[in-house]
Amino acid sequence: MSTAPQTAAPPTGPAKAAFLGAMRHFVGSVSVITVGAGDDLSGLVVTSAVSLSAEPPQVLICVNRGSSSWPLLKRYGHFGVNALAARHQPVAERFSGFGGIRGAARYEGADWVTARTGARLLADAPVALDCRVEEMIDRASHSIVIGRVVAIRAGSEEDALIYWHGGYRGVGR
Ligand SMILES: Cc1cc2nc3c(=O)[nH]c(=O)nc-3n(C[C@H](O)[C@H](O)[C@H](O)COP(=O)(O)O)c2cc1C
Repeated sequence: MSTAPQTAAPPTGPAKAAFLGAMRHFVGSVSVITVGAGDDLSGLVVTSAVSLSAEPPQVLICVNRGSSSWPLLKRYGHFGVNALAARHQPVAERFSGFGGIRGAARYEGADWVTARTGARLLADAPVALDCRVEEMIDRASHSIVIGRVVAIRAGSEEDALIYWHGGYRGVGR
């Protein structure tokens, strides 16, 4: 039997379109990430916000390094994670840059409170987390951002906003 080393095939995988098509099947919870301070604000809608650990309380989000939010995360070191209710779809659309809305203009049409770190939190979110950036790990086009939750702002329970197969939907009990 030959003992010649087998040359490993270069790591290949499905094409980008196939990957994106597959991801459409995953139900995403919709959150708005707020970043910046004063008038130097931006933010983005994400489906990548998840719990990392309970002790200590940490979350992670994945943020495109080409987005307007990424440099503000680096500069100010804090962010807010705002769970969205079904009625917050217009807020989600503003924070996706829909219609060319940028920067502080994304905050118009909703009420915000400033949390301990300086992060803006959506006043009537079902729940919002005030986070300090612990680590930003660059991978391909994105950074995996680990946030230490320093405060929780609890709201009232209501139908949630989710993203599935390229569209927003409300979901309730
Ligand atoms: C439902 C939905 C989920 C998204 N999730 C993410 C995400 O997890 N990470 C990310 O970097 N961008 C995500 N985006 C894209 C950003 O919201 C959008 O590109 C960003 O707000 C615009 O970037 P800009 O601030 O440079 O204009 C998502 C967009 C939508 C509509």
